[in-house]
Parts: sequence; structure tokens; C-alpha cells
Amino acid sequence: MLTAEQRAAYQRDGFVVLPDFASPDACARLRRRAVEIVDAWEPSALRSVFTTNEQTRSSNREFLDSGSGTWCFFEEDALGPDGELTQPKELSINKVGHAQHDLDDEFDGFSRDPRLAEVAADIGLHDPLALQSMYIFKQPRIGGEVSCHQDATFLYTTPITVTGFWFAIEDATLDNGCLWAVPGGHTGPLRQVFKRNDADDPPDADGTVFEQLDTTPLPEPPADVRAPGTSPFVPLEVDAGAMVVLHGLLPHWSGPNRSGTSRHAYSLHCISAAADYPDWNWLQRPADMPLRPL
Ligand code: FE2
Repeated sequence: MLTAEQRAAYQRDGFVVLPDFASPDACARLRRRAVEIVDAWEPSALRSVFTTNEQTRSSNREFLDSGSGTWCFFEEDALGPDGELTQPKELSINKVGHAQHDLDDEFDGFSRDPRLAEVAADIGLHDPLALQSMYIFKQPRIGGEVSCHQDATFLYTTPITVTGFWFAIEDATLDNGCLWAVPGGHTGPLRQVFKRNDADDPPDADGTVFEQLDTTPLPEPPADVRAPGTSPFVPLEVDAGAMVVLHGLLPHWSGPNRSGTSRHAYSLHCISAAADYPDWNWLQRPADMPLRPL
């Protein structure tokens, strides 16, 4: 699937952009299905907010259980002080996650495109397993920032194998919160890991903790996306249908969406079946729902 230049770019930069990977029809079908899932979603009294600053996001039981389910997470800014929605539900969901690639036919079909396994082989990801999926809405005006992070923090294996396949379902621009990445940043160390600690906590504790591995600071995102200045981040403005492949150690970030246009994206994270997946990762599957190949 990948040219020698694309493979070299991935090794050098830690990411590669493949324009027009997904057809307009495939994007439209996935978008329609995501909206259907939200339409059918009945929010419980306890609302799971995906606090998009990943340092402080809530880690309630729904979040921890969502690794084997299909859950809708609200935007932080969608809830008023009384916990009620301030705008329609369909404009209030941050993302759907984290197992629809195994539970929903439309997501399964999109995620098991045979070309993805070829891309995985091209970049040296052997025996890929589809671990986690997210349909991200980045809603108009309230779409939240996703703070700078490395995916291996949240989906750790030994050795590190997590790889992100990120699809623009709609055009991603500077204005609506496109991805940003630090070319070559994947050669740096893993800064921290995000661990379950429910064994040590009372049941009402949040059940997760960050453990620092390396004190090297993550690069600082630009304060103004229209004036990146000295930030080492580059914007990945892509048209709908593009796929971005992201190395698990690559620092990446996306800003808030203050525009009137949504920025839908689908993200699928894969690991190698040959790597060790510790039982302290936040995402755990029940025994009767094993991970399936890409
Ligand atoms: Fe990420």
C-alpha cells in the first residue's frame, strides 16, 4: 500500500498522511451510522463527560467499561451548571467509543478494510489487533481540545506497538480543530502511563492514575493556531477521506473547535498480537470478547 517515500516519511516523522484513503461513500456511511448511534443513545442520570484535557478527564465506571462497549461521551461544554444539556443531544456528544469496531457492522466493515492490514505490514506492525475505536465529532463551537499526548500512554504494550489510524470523515482545518503533530517526536521517550488502580481504591474512586516515566516535557502546542510561532507542531489539515497513520510515541494535539463547522473523525488504535498487554491498562476486554485482527 505505501510507497518507499511514504514508509520513509513514517519512520522519519512518526506519521504519514494518505489522502483519499476512504471513499466519500464510506465516510458518509460511517457518519450516518455514528449519528444513528447518538440518536438511539439514552443518557443516564450519570453523564460521562470526556474531559478533553486528558490529564484530568473523569475516569468513572462507564469510561472504564467502555473498552468493551459503545458509549457516548458528552462534550465538557455541553452541560450547564445544573448538569442539563444546553443544546440538542446530537450537537453535544464529544465521541462514541470504544469497541464499536467489534460491535457494529458498519464500523466493523470500515475498520476491517483489507488495505489497513497492508499498511500495518508496511510500517512493521505485525499481527495487528484492533484494540480501540473512537468516532470523534469535534462539535461546532464547543468541540473540546485534546491536550498533547502520546497514545502509548493510554494503550501501553511491551514493546510499544500501539499505532493510530485516524480518518478524516469531514475536512479538518485550522479553524475546526485539525490534528497537529511534532515531526520526529516519536523518537523521544514515553513520558507517562495511564493505569487502572481500582484494586487499591474504594469503588467510588476514579480508578485511574498517571505514572510518570520520564520528566522530559512534551512539546508545547501553539497558543494561536493561525500563528504557530516557535511551536514544533505542524498542522495536519486534510480533506475528508484522508487517513493519518500515527506512531504510538508521537506527541500530537488538537485544539478546540470554535468554528461553526464540525470536524468528524474516526480513530482506530491497533497493537501487535506479539506484544505484551498489561492488565493495568485502562482498557480491558472481558474473556468472552477477545481482540480481533485488523
Ligand atoms: Fe491520540
